[in-house]
Amino acid sequence: MGKMADIDEMMYSCGLEILHPGGIEKTDEMARMCKIGKDKKVLDIGSGKGVTTCHLAQKYECEIVGLDLSERMIEYAKEMAKKKGLNDRVSFRRADAHNLLFEDESFDIVLAECTTVLLEKEKAFSEFLRVTKSGGYIGDLEMTWQKLPPKELVDKVYNVWEGFRTMTFEEWKNFYEKMGMVDIKTVDFSETIPDMEKAMKKELGLKGVIKMGCKLLLRSDLRKAMNEYRKIFKEYSDYIGYGYVVGRKK
Ligand SMILES: C[S@@+](CC[C@H](N)C(=O)[O-])C[C@H]1O[C@@H](n2cnc3c(N)ncnc32)[C@H](O)[C@@H]1O
Repeated sequence: MGKMADIDEMMYSCGLEILHPGGIEKTDEMARMCKIGKDKKVLDIGSGKGVTTCHLAQKYECEIVGLDLSERMIEYAKEMAKKKGLNDRVSFRRADAHNLLFEDESFDIVLAECTTVLLEKEKAFSEFLRVTKSGGYIGDLEMTWQKLPPKELVDKVYNVWEGFRTMTFEEWKNFYEKMGMVDIKTVDFSETIPDMEKAMKKELGLKGVIKMGCKLLLRSDLRKAMNEYRKIFKEYSDYIGYGYVVGRKK
């Protein structure tokens, strides 16, 4: 069986600038629910290519740090911040989200998009909590389960997206509660994305779709990964949902 590209390779090589459902519009909604603003210090966990990080700095004039484990994502993101002239309030650090390099209570807001599902949740979330100021917010935008999934689906996404584990909205809420968060809100926007592939193409635009098509033609590892994604979204569409969870640290 041929090699299959991992999720980072897909994002990096297929020209996907962001890899979370709902695009920057839902990022904005979640960030506003976390009371983002000019005087806020924000941490973007698993910042990828830095699109959310730069967008929030530009729009809300907040100070923001993007953190990612991947060296090349960090380099890409740094270049973007430089081009946009945001270096005074945006910085990027290469680090593991399970061991944050920051002092306790360093941030007003900690955000994660499509990343917590790839982590050891309790360990990582304890770190998110540690670096959040008392009274600050944690927001997580993720693919979710609309209802409890069969084991075959759980195993499939775990294998295809290297360690991916998500939860139903109720489970996300319970998890936040268990971790000691208060004022927890979940927002389910699953119905706005009836077809993930179409949503992705819209996000990419015509030029992006052509570029991605060329990459897929040339590289069997990317093609294989894309076929697996398509199968999951098609066969299990009843189970797959999208949304975010926001809570406040006491
Ligand atoms: C699916 S991408 C999402 C990127 C970005 N948040 C977005 O919405 O476009 C997941 C990101 O998490 C990063 N990541 C995975 N494991 C990580 C870890 N242990 N610590 C920090 N970042 C991690 C990956 O390198 C990747 O950039």
